[in-house]
Amino acid sequence: MISFPERLLNKLHEVKSQNKFRTLKASYPVIDFSSNDYLGFSKSGKLQQRVSSLLASTNSGSTGSRLISGNSSLFNNTEDYIAQFHHAESALIFNSGFDANLGLLSSVPQKGDLILSDELIHASLIDGIRLSFATHYKFSHNNIAQLNDLLERHHASFNEIYIVVESVYSMDGDSAPLIKILELAKHYHFHLIVDEAHAIGIFGDQGRGLCNELNIEDKCFARIYTYGKAMGCHGAAIVGSKQLKDYLINFSRSFIYTTALPEHSVVSIKKAYELLINSKEITHLKTLISNFNTQTMADNSFIKSQSAIHCKIVPGNTQVSNLETKLSDLNFFVKSIKSPTVKENQERLRICLHSFNTIEEVNQLIHLITS
Ligand SMILES: Cc1ncc(COP(=O)(O)O)c(C=O)c1O
Repeated sequence: MISFPERLLNKLHEVKSQNKFRTLKASYPVIDFSSNDYLGFSKSGKLQQRVSSLLASTNSGSTGSRLISGNSSLFNNTEDYIAQFHHAESALIFNSGFDANLGLLSSVPQKGDLILSDELIHASLIDGIRLSFATHYKFSHNNIAQLNDLLERHHASFNEIYIVVESVYSMDGDSAPLIKILELAKHYHFHLIVDEAHAIGIFGDQGRGLCNELNIEDKCFARIYTYGKAMGCHGAAIVGSKQLKDYLINFSRSFIYTTALPEHSVVSIKKAYELLINSKEITHLKTLISNFNTQTMADNSFIKSQSAIHCKIVPGNTQVSNLETKLSDLNFFVKSIKSPTVKENQERLRICLHSFNTIEEVNQLIHLITS
């Protein structure tokens, strides 16, 4: 039998004993308050219909990296479309949001540069930062005073400074104080990187994201839009200047050294953008969000959020797991987020609202978790 290293076995035993052991499930309770399919694009069939008529003329595989044999006019045209939609000079498609963040942060900040990031940024941004040779400091979540302090102390010692935040935090649902961060630019020179993974499809004109809603698109060095959430498909794009795109094509290893997305995925991205324009789903989702907030406003166990992600803090891995099981038995699919994904005592139920959820379902869920 092939042996498995003892130390790794011990790590598995440890997570099991702490109720932190992860497994993969193949079926889920039917009332979905968990997936990131905020607008129902992946399920409704609308996107599939638009894509399937075009599939006959596409290849099933892209055959190589985009720098070798995997590129096509479909990629180029879709990137032009994405850039235009997000009011940027350029867009570059990556195979996933994880790849986009990894490739951006590992290649752009250089030795002698400084990265300042919110403590709650996504693992893909953290891993990109770990691969970079720049110096890195974290500031506590949404803490502008601490960010200002770090800038004041360190700005003179570094060549370039990159600030990395999310417009909607995936495990909290709240937003970075983007306007306040940009006010710091009056005193310090920095480049702002905003991950809009959970904001596309929810905020802004026709779902363009929170940077659009706040009218700060042109103030961002780079914005990341991912397509596996509200857009109901797969992949991601980094938008920014033409030089940024040129730089990433030449230096971003998760872009260069991988087989490009198949054409099917690229067509899906284009069609998902077309669905977004004049989408009625956004309007219904906004009504659900506002209804949820009205009902939970007075309860401090909920993290305040204007996004589709709402969290109720339920301290303790066992306690939050039990609540997830109780809801699952009633056919509600709501995921518990346990430590170490979140800090101890900050374990939570993560509730994702969708355009296909009914008001009755939302009210029933609130009743079940608050009574
Ligand atoms: C904030 C954020 N950025 C990036 C990603 C990664 O995106 P993808 O799922 O496309 O790899 C995620 C998804 O988990 C996310 O929540």
